[in-house]
Amino acid sequence: MAISSKQKQIFKFPYTSYDALICDGAVRSGKTSMMSISFLLWAMSCFSGCAFAFCGKSVGAVERNLVRPLLATKYIQQNFSLRYNRSGHVITVKRGEKENHFYLFGGRDESSAALIQGVTLGGVLLDEVALMPRSFVEQALARCSVEGAKLWFNCNPDSPLHWFKKEWIEKSTEKNVLHIHFTMDDNPGLSEETKARYRGMYAGVFYQRFIQGLWVMGDGLIYDMFDSTENIYSDPPIDILSRYTRFVSCDYGTTNPCIFLDIYDDGEKILVNREYRWDSKEEQRQKTDEEYADDMMAFLENRFCPIIVDPSAASFILALQRRGLYVIPATNDVLDGIRKTGVMLKQRKLLIHQKNCDGLIGELGTYSWDTKAAQGGTEKPVKQQDHALDALRYYINYLPDWRFE
Ligand SMILES: Nc1ncnc2c1ncn2[C@@H]1O[C@H](COP(=O)(O)OP(=O)(O)O)[C@@H](O)[C@H]1O
Ligand SMILES: [Mg+2]
Repeated sequence: MAISSKQKQIFKFPYTSYDALICDGAVRSGKTSMMSISFLLWAMSCFSGCAFAFCGKSVGAVERNLVRPLLATKYIQQNFSLRYNRSGHVITVKRGEKENHFYLFGGRDESSAALIQGVTLGGVLLDEVALMPRSFVEQALARCSVEGAKLWFNCNPDSPLHWFKKEWIEKSTEKNVLHIHFTMDDNPGLSEETKARYRGMYAGVFYQRFIQGLWVMGDGLIYDMFDSTENIYSDPPIDILSRYTRFVSCDYGTTNPCIFLDIYDDGEKILVNREYRWDSKEEQRQKTDEEYADDMMAFLENRFCPIIVDPSAASFILALQRRGLYVIPATNDVLDGIRKTGVMLKQRKLLIHQKNCDGLIGELGTYSWDTKAAQGGTEKPVKQQDHALDALRYYINYLPDWRFE
């Protein structure tokens, strides 16, 4: 395996006088893989009988993005004896007399936050640190009290006002941090084709962050990759009922509008075929949960399918369940959902029915970043008509990660 000069610096870092390493920049540039290998080699050569931490957004994410590829690395398999205890979330690594434990933690998992308070660590690797709560990161760092401990961070860029950018990247000199910036060209394992595919996935602020590796603020339209001809269709495919799987996604509202979207997915393309909208302010009448449930039954047109609903709509979920409908509570991660929706739009895998979805199309064309809130350090959309977009995001967030790779 050829290793680029930037990647080589990751392997040299443990033997420099720096206390910490930050690798930031583009996706797929080899940050996680090279860091995890270098971390393990360092831990095994300098320590024994010591505990270390691999942290990610969730334990599942660390397992998928870091542990699985690490355990599959030939060089590691040939030189160490590794045992991964899945239920205990710990990897035991041995070589000769030396043995160390590597614990997995998830920054957003409640249980991890409590667990990490009790341990003493020789080093911690924070994968995708910008996605973790600051309190978790600080707790993890505070646990590194073993002599010679080092901190390892990597992330894709976020807003320039993000706490990690301000507190760590901008203060790298005073904190004695080695900061290395990556682009996809720093990964010799990527073919030109693969790089082109990744470039084609992102637009706007996400292109600047995930491809160019820049810490930039979102401003202007969020879905500027939405194209009013390329993301639109007028005649549904004739095999829509046989080849596509149907879902209805719902953003519930009583004083705010209530939206249902009729969605068809063939595993590649997603079609939003129809929308239901009840705007109680415009209609000057609020509907009860039972009335909404009646409307849902009518909207389904006697063809039942899973309904993805905003999890806070507890009473409406019960009303749907009483009618025998299968309800999936939605994940409401706004920024991740926006990024994923953007990927689908940019790749023209998300198509919307021209005549049946006026509301959704209108919202796509106006949804913008809140530049004022961004100045205060929070990144979010301007609060406006966004209920159909919320419903759409609930569906997108339900999809597995591989749909966006
Ligand atoms: N020097 C290299 N040679 C071959 N493949 C590499 C090299 N560096 C990284 N890769 C592979 O490239 C892919 C992306 O690397 P990864 O570490 O996940 O990137 P990042 O964390 O920057 O998104 C992985 O499949 C990884 O194994
Ligand atoms: Mg990574």
